[in-house]
Amino acid sequence: MPSTRIREYESAFSEWLGAKYAFSFWKGRVALYALLRAMGVGEGDEVILPGYTCVMDVNPIKYLGAKPVYVDIEPATFNINVGLLEVKITPNTKAIIAQHTYGYPCDMDAIMNIAEKNSIPVIEDCCLALDSKYKGKTMGTFGEAAYFSFQWNKPYTTGLGGMVVTNDEKLAGQIESLRASEMCLPCRKEVFMLWAELVVYRLFIYPRTTALAERVFRYLTKKGAVVGSSSSSEFQPEMACDFFKAASGVQARSGLRQLKKIERNIAHREWMAQLYDELLEQKGWPCRKYDRSMIEPVMVRYPVRIAEKDKALAEAAKAGIELGSWFECPLHPIETPLAAYDYEAGMCPEAEKASNEAVNLPLHPRANEATAEKSVEFITKFTPVK
Ligand SMILES: Cc1ncc(COP(=O)(O)O)c(C=O)c1O
Repeated sequence: MPSTRIREYESAFSEWLGAKYAFSFWKGRVALYALLRAMGVGEGDEVILPGYTCVMDVNPIKYLGAKPVYVDIEPATFNINVGLLEVKITPNTKAIIAQHTYGYPCDMDAIMNIAEKNSIPVIEDCCLALDSKYKGKTMGTFGEAAYFSFQWNKPYTTGLGGMVVTNDEKLAGQIESLRASEMCLPCRKEVFMLWAELVVYRLFIYPRTTALAERVFRYLTKKGAVVGSSSSSEFQPEMACDFFKAASGVQARSGLRQLKKIERNIAHREWMAQLYDELLEQKGWPCRKYDRSMIEPVMVRYPVRIAEKDKALAEAAKAGIELGSWFECPLHPIETPLAAYDYEAGMCPEAEKASNEAVNLPLHPRANEATAEKSVEFITKFTPVK
């Protein structure tokens, strides 16, 4: 049974988002796994998703013996190209994942039309989109269900963490009974390490220290000295023995704290994104153009396309500039054995192009006007790609 604190966090989240039910998990990928299980996805089924995502999004599909079917992206929004979606539907398709990349809402009218016509449920991947809106409606409230991540790089962080939301009573009941019968608890050591990492994060991680901190964190994760977002065993579905894990009290407490300041976080992200628009425009760089009566994105990071991605990342690390690299390949990170995830080179050419060009700039509450100025000064030394 989830603790009172966990129930409190789930209620606060569902109320804030405007969904009937919310269920918290150890990570976002575990939230997706629970959802797919509850929807009855299994051996031989197909799940459609954009070919520009994080491999951890694909693992739950593979764990269930289902097949990921990739759709290429639109270059302007990095989201699934709805014009290419319907032809991928087969009698085996059991779900469509609409991932709102970087916080840009997908074209939900088109996706919901195709899904309804073919009677296929839509799962919204809101891991990068907290409070983005499409025609005034919040992302996460369109499909049968949605899931969120609260890992380090996400709109707010509890270190690790995930949440499913749904308005569907039957689906909610299925998730609840799965939790009751199969979910394991994180061990004390893991929870303690996560708590310690959150303390270090609060005290020491700022834009100029991020690149160094990420390198140290990856090294310590490999050595097993910290609880990382991903372990190497997660690349092998058959090793996923303790994957279906509950959220801890540490995450619930941290999440409740974050929800109290969520409006400030969102306003800051919007203000920073506008600042980047203005600064880039002043330098004659292409920047975001969209119709605010249609979409109101709350971005997780600010994407920019450049010709010399590797060089920029290497120089940024030396210069103490917080330059993000995702997605490094169609199924981030670059180490992903693509063939093992049913991805063949050339399958999603726009996603592959975006992987080679897109870097991203910080919008989070610790980044400020000086960060934006420094980041724009840095990135505009490179060649923009339109
Ligand atoms: C778009 C997207 N979906 C899902 C996930 C998985 O979230 P988590 O790391 O919490 O499992 C990620 C991971 O970073 C992501 O970028």
